[in-house]
Parts: sequence; C-alpha cells; structure tokens
Amino acid sequence: MCGIVGYTGSKKASPIIIEGLRRLEYRGYDSAGIATQEKEGIKIIRSVGKLNNLIEKLSQTTLLGNTGIGHTRWATHGKPSEVNAHPHKAGKFVVVHNGIIENYLSIKNKLVKRGCNFESETDTEVIAHLLWSYYEKSQNTKEAILKTVKELRGSFAIAILNEDEKESIYLVRYESPLVIGVGENENYFASDIPALLVHTNNIIFLKDGDIIKLTPEGYEAFDFNGKKIIRLPEKINLSLSQAEKGGYPHFMLKEIHEQPEAFINTVRTRIKPDTKEVVFDEIPRDIFKKVESIHIIACGTSYHAGLIGRFFLEEIAGLPTLVEIASEFRYKKNFFNSKTLYIFISQSGSTADTLAALKLTKNNKVSTLAICNVLGSSISTEADYTIYTHAGPEIGVASTKAFSTQIAVLFLLSLQFGFYKKAININQLSAFIDSLLKIPKAMEKCLKDSSKIKQLAQKYYHYNNFLYLGRGLNYPLALEGALKLKEISYIHAEAYSAGEMKHGPIALIDENMPVLVINTKSNQHEKTISNIQEVLARNGKVIALISEKDKVTPKYTKDIIEVPQINNYLDCLLSIIPLQLFAYYCAVLKGTDVDQPRNLAKSVTVE
Ligand code: M6R
Repeated sequence: MCGIVGYTGSKKASPIIIEGLRRLEYRGYDSAGIATQEKEGIKIIRSVGKLNNLIEKLSQTTLLGNTGIGHTRWATHGKPSEVNAHPHKAGKFVVVHNGIIENYLSIKNKLVKRGCNFESETDTEVIAHLLWSYYEKSQNTKEAILKTVKELRGSFAIAILNEDEKESIYLVRYESPLVIGVGENENYFASDIPALLVHTNNIIFLKDGDIIKLTPEGYEAFDFNGKKIIRLPEKINLSLSQAEKGGYPHFMLKEIHEQPEAFINTVRTRIKPDTKEVVFDEIPRDIFKKVESIHIIACGTSYHAGLIGRFFLEEIAGLPTLVEIASEFRYKKNFFNSKTLYIFISQSGSTADTLAALKLTKNNKVSTLAICNVLGSSISTEADYTIYTHAGPEIGVASTKAFSTQIAVLFLLSLQFGFYKKAININQLSAFIDSLLKIPKAMEKCLKDSSKIKQLAQKYYHYNNFLYLGRGLNYPLALEGALKLKEISYIHAEAYSAGEMKHGPIALIDENMPVLVINTKSNQHEKTISNIQEVLARNGKVIALISEKDKVTPKYTKDIIEVPQINNYLDCLLSIIPLQLFAYYCAVLKGTDVDQPRNLAKSVTVE
C-alpha cells in the first residue's frame, strides 16, 4: 500500500503535500516523491528511504507551484530506489499511484514495441505512458484517462498532472481508497482522511469507478464511461488531534491508550441506555432471524478478532461459526449458503485479500457484512451491510485499538443474535451489557499498571524466541500477542493452543525459550496450570497473564501480569492491553521503528 496526496489552490503546494505525506507515511516508507506545476513545467523530486530524505533533498531546490501531487511508497514492483519512486512521467503526464496494475507487463510489452522507453521497474509507469500515448492523438485529458482506465486491471487510486493544465489534478479511484478535501478556492485529495484534517472536514469519499477533475474552484465527477455523476462532500466528525501523537512517543502507544475511549465510541450508540437493548440500525432485523450460521473472513489481527468472535457467536448466540484467513478462503472450494452471514473484518477496509474474498462471496448471492474502521473504504462500500468500529484513525502499523473495537462489535452482534434466536433471555442480555459497560474502566486500570510490563520487557527483550500459549478464548489472544511481538520487535514468537504444546513445540522448551502463558479465569484454568508445570519441568521461563483473583498461578512463577476479572468472554479485552504493551516496550528497548516496522505497511493492498 502507498499513500498519495495533493493540492491545488493559491498556496505553495509543496509544504502542504509534504505535511500530507508525513501523515500518510504509515502506508509505506520505502521512498517518497513530489511533483509540482512550475512555470517551466512539472518538476519532480524523488528520494529513496523515509520522507526525511525527500525533505532534505527539497531543501536544496525551490518548488513554487500551487498545484502538485505526492507519494509515499511501499514497494511492490521494483525494489525501493529513486528510479522506482513515484511520481512517474511520460510526455506531459505525471502520475502517482496506490494499488497494483495486474496486467502491467502485457501493457508494457505493447508500449515498448511502439517505442516507449521505460525508466523504472514499476507497474505504475505504464499508466503515464498510456495517458501520454492517448493524449498525443486527442489532446484531450479526459478522453486519454477514459481510454487508459479501460486498459487497466487491478486496483488503483491515481493522481494525474498534465503540463498543459496548470491548475488541474485528475483523480481515478478503483479499489484503492481516495478522498477529496473540499476547501474554499482550494482543494485537496489524499488516500486517507488524517492527511486532510488540518485543512478541512468537508470530505468526499470517492467510489470505485470515479474520475475527478479537481481545480481550485471545484471539482467535476465522471464515471469510467465519461458520464457526469454527482459526488457530494460530507462533514466528518474527526479532529486533527486524533491523527496526531498527542505527546506520546509513538502512535502505537497512543492508540493502545486510546482503547477505553475507542471502545466507548464503538458501543455507545449500539446500546439503548434505558432498556439496555442492542441496536444495529445498519442491519435489517430479518437478518438476525434468518441467519443460521456465520462465516468470518479476515487477515492478521482482524482474523484474530474473528477467532475470538467465534466463541461469542457459538457460545452466546448458538450460531455455528467458521473463521478463515482471506487469502486461503479466496482460493479454495467454498460451499456458499443463503442462511449463512459472511462477515468480513478489516480495520483499513482495503486489504486486497479480504476485498477479493468479499467480492467472490457477493458473486454467490449470499449476505455479506463488513466490520471496518476506515469510513468509505472499499470493503465497507462493497458489503451489503457495514458496521463501523469508530475507533478513530489507527496510524501505527501494529493494529491495537482496531482489535479491541472489532471484538466489541462481535460481542454486541452475538448478543443481538442470541437475543433474536432466544439463546439468551432479557436478563442474560442485560447482565452481559452490564459487564460490557465495566470494560472501559477496567482497561484504564490495565493501562495504569504498565510499570510491571516495562520491568518484564526489560528482563526479556534480549531473548530471540518466545512461545505464547493459551486455551479457548486465550488461544487467539496468544496468536495476537505473538503477532504484536514479532511485527514490531522482530523477536520470533510462536503461539500455540496450550493443549497442543505436547504435540511438538514442547521440544523447543529450555532456559532460552520464555513462554508467555495467558491463563485468565476460564473453565480450562487448571489444565493450563498443568501446561505451566510442563514448561517449568523443562527449565522453561514462564510469564503468566492471569486474573487478579487467581491465587494458584503465582505459586509457579514470579513473572505475573494481572488483569481485572469481569466476565470470561470479555476479559480478553483487558488481557490484550498488557500483551500490546509488552511487545511495545520490547520494541522500544530493542530500538526498532515501532510505528513503521520494516517490510510492513498499514494495509496490504496487494495479494
Ligand atoms: O486493515 P486490515 O484489518 O484488513 O489488516 C489486516 C492485517 O494486515 C493487519 O491486521 C496486520 O496483521 C497488522 N499489521 C497487525 O498488527
């Protein structure tokens, strides 16, 4: 995934674009580039590595133009290098692109035969050449764009400058996010809203198949057939502070600390304060009655949230539930069922595998529901129904508050299904909601107790390998804890269901293999104690994450992390906090780049 941003108005474009790129850097940081309309033509400056390298380069040049575009890259085609950095130019056209052009090779071969010279190894450069080849004939930008997009297969958000139109930026959206920020006699665009909030809250969410001509005075919208369409701005209720670090050293730490508030924002409008009923206005009531099973599809952390959701849906609502990784689901034989609700979970709403799995599912005429955080994202617009998590912008590459809010939504959905299906009665519903409402305070407590986690990180951060164990609901939590540790601290961490340890991983246990066991209150508590003993008997070191009232586990290890005990289903929302913090502090001690870990991007818009 990459980030694109741009401006047209009366101000100098380059500082606005650099500021926008700074806010989009989480989307990719292999290289960055900018192009502005200058008197002498379009000037392009590119640099490999993080945005600071580009800024350094910009300090040696002058960009005065009032219209320009920028890009921060996560490499797909072609290694990170200056020549592969965007923007790319052909003739009078300059483009930046987020997404992937799947048929770029065949287009490139065709263009090379016609005599086009390619500079880079990227898929994007074919877009610039196609545009220029069509424009050379017609001298009409719109026509060149219409012809070009018809040739492209894949996903793309594209911004285009034409040297002949000094004040215009053309935008194209297809399966990659793109939003416009509407100002007064000036307009902006970006891959994501946080890049625009400093300028405006008036946002237009572009849809797949939109083409826009943006000028300082306004915008015109067309579809891929060139027909005029209407796109209107919406006032977005997000503040700039939500997209800034707000005094925290990293976005990830800020976002971990935002969880109580994010959780409240997610559940607030979905619980009737007087009757304590659950409300999901986004979903027709008959879905709750008609559906007989659930199929959840997601990737990464969102997949782990789905695994937790399965326990809620099966045990509270009595609905058989399958959970699958999107990249597996989309290539296997599936048995689509009209009585199954297919739920797609994605923070970004633009993960390529999840989006492809959703499209495949929709083709089979079954009901689809998206649980997304990013407003107007591809997955949220593609699904039949969408529940937004309202966690606010998540900028750190490691997903934190998105996870807890996804769990909150899955829990509420289970209550609603359970109630409609008479698996739980009104008293049980009300008791569950009472417990749910205690979570934000309990989360605050976990966040306050972080000194113990810091000490543990200090003791353990130099180990090269970790095992995470848990049973039942604590198993997906172990998967998520291990994912957090490996992605930001680069420490190898494997998660196993504690009962599976004896089937192989136990061979790994020795004094160099710390084992983090999640053993909060559950009906498998004693069995997990046995697993702890098995580890200790082999000189393993155990860190145990337990409920406050547990007096047994502390007999076996001194390295204890305690979380409040509220409800067996909901305690995972508390346990996740020390797991996130442990990974965070290990990464800080190791000196890794917490918010922008190597090789990763915030959302993976490629297969
Ligand atoms: O935006 P999505 O929720 O679809 O993203 C899915 C994964 O790419 C994401 O959760 C990834 O695993 C995170 N880096 C985990 O912290």
